[in-house]
Amino acid sequence: MVKSSFLVICFASLTAGLLIGEFSDWRPPFRLPHSPLHSEKLLQKAKPLISSTVTIIPPEQYERWIEHQTHISFEGIIKNIGGYGPGLEDVMRGAVIASPSKSHPDYYYQWTRDSGITINTLIMNYADNNATNATLRDIIYDYINSSRIIQRQSNPSGTFENLEGLGEPKFKVDGRPFTAPWGRPQRDGPALRAIAMLNFVNTELKYNESGVTYESFRDIFDNVIRPDLDYVGLKWQYDGFDLWEELKGKHFFTSMCHRRALISGSDLAQKLGYADAAIFYQTQASYLTQFISDYFYDHKKGHLVETFGNHKRSGLDSALFLGSIHALDLLLWSGKADVTDIYPPYSDEVLASLVQHITDMRYRYPINLRRLKTFESLGVNISLVGIGVGRYPEDVYNGVAESEGNPWFLCTATVSHTLYLLADYLYTRTSDFTLKLTEHTLPLLGMFLDKVEGFDWSDPSFELKRSSPDFDTVVLRILAYGDSFLDVIREHVDSKGSMSEQFSRYDGYMRGAEDLTWSYGAFWSAVRQRKLVYGRIK
Ligand code: NOJ
Ligand code: NOJ
Repeated sequence: MVKSSFLVICFASLTAGLLIGEFSDWRPPFRLPHSPLHSEKLLQKAKPLISSTVTIIPPEQYERWIEHQTHISFEGIIKNIGGYGPGLEDVMRGAVIASPSKSHPDYYYQWTRDSGITINTLIMNYADNNATNATLRDIIYDYINSSRIIQRQSNPSGTFENLEGLGEPKFKVDGRPFTAPWGRPQRDGPALRAIAMLNFVNTELKYNESGVTYESFRDIFDNVIRPDLDYVGLKWQYDGFDLWEELKGKHFFTSMCHRRALISGSDLAQKLGYADAAIFYQTQASYLTQFISDYFYDHKKGHLVETFGNHKRSGLDSALFLGSIHALDLLLWSGKADVTDIYPPYSDEVLASLVQHITDMRYRYPINLRRLKTFESLGVNISLVGIGVGRYPEDVYNGVAESEGNPWFLCTATVSHTLYLLADYLYTRTSDFTLKLTEHTLPLLGMFLDKVEGFDWSDPSFELKRSSPDFDTVVLRILAYGDSFLDVIREHVDSKGSMSEQFSRYDGYMRGAEDLTWSYGAFWSAVRQRKLVYGRIK
């Protein structure tokens, strides 16, 4: 059992009184300062009463906001699906548009990646509710049917017959190919689509016992899942464009998704009696394990790099954390948080990358500096204050054209998600577990260990036993830090809880494609993990 009083925020009830005055008109939809300047004013008022905080609002309000925003985010995904969202008459049933924005930028397309990731979000929700939600089931079947059609469209990347067509990054909303020049192929797409469908099949098999057998999924496996798995198994060693559609090469995110798809795919192939396919996927997955461990960790830099052999960038990238998360067996994780994997979110390499990425982002965007300074002026220990996180340091895409990069909602949520997974992993260790540091993870873990008895910043050989009374404190600090990144999102969504792609590095207002499906999906997924771990702790 853990005392939650340490947690999050030490707001004296007095403080709450004071702040509630500010928020007396509060009711969902949450109306909060989405301009940092406004929040600074509020913070100044609260100053004398705050001791340590991850958010300027009282904990109950923060929790209410999380609930509300989670609901908005789920709806935000559904609203962008053909057959379900309003005003999408021209969208194929079951296709997921990246955003309703038709110009500046034009995101009115179905990207295989965005739709695979966000449908997977719906599938997690479906699984969490024991596969009972018939509407969700319909949406997922519509997505599978639309995938079947889209897979078979010859396009500039290739055809269904030679499999290369599956690597086409995006399609028109009615399912026809998009033929203008683009960064193609993007080889993560088929893997993400397969992962989503495999999660769905496994969920059906787990919960819907009556009449649902492996046999019920033979058609979907043979004709929709298997082409994607074959594509991954046969093509993973070829170059392709990265998830941000900019660089051609081999990418951590892409390879991690490939590996997960093949492992889960091999398992289902085996169960359906396709022994050869099962062995093929398994073998390719083990080559990928080797490939990933050989190529993506830079020992000199002490962090993972997103694109192999690219010397123009540091390699720090939100794609590393996305890759680490999407490579997990998230269905299994929700059951027991005991996954053995390569570069999982709690691995030394991912944590070392995370702290260097965050450190870069802290000082890169003026809104982050302002936020930190404000909290500092309140006497808060700013090492555990969240910030807005962008794609990668060198990014120049402003959401419409090239100038300067901004923080992204989905990247900021992904940092929270990573921290929640780390907290969950640590919390669920058995009593013989010991948390160990390395020179590269010390800067991150040190922040959580600060003031723990015996811990000394100059000594990476410090160890903390699971059985130590301080261990749970460390877990709670990690959670609080994760909450603090979601709090940044709270400051930048609009009064309706809408999320675009980015928020300005200068004034914090939203930038880029509005109602980006993936922003909602990333927020929803982070909160799902947050609920899982807080649920275990209670
Ligand atoms: C450039 C961006 O960096 C990339 O991520 C995006 O997909 C394309 N432009 C198209 O909007
Ligand atoms: C640009 C992003 O870089 C890419 O990852 C995404 O697929 C598209 N926008 C569509 O949202």
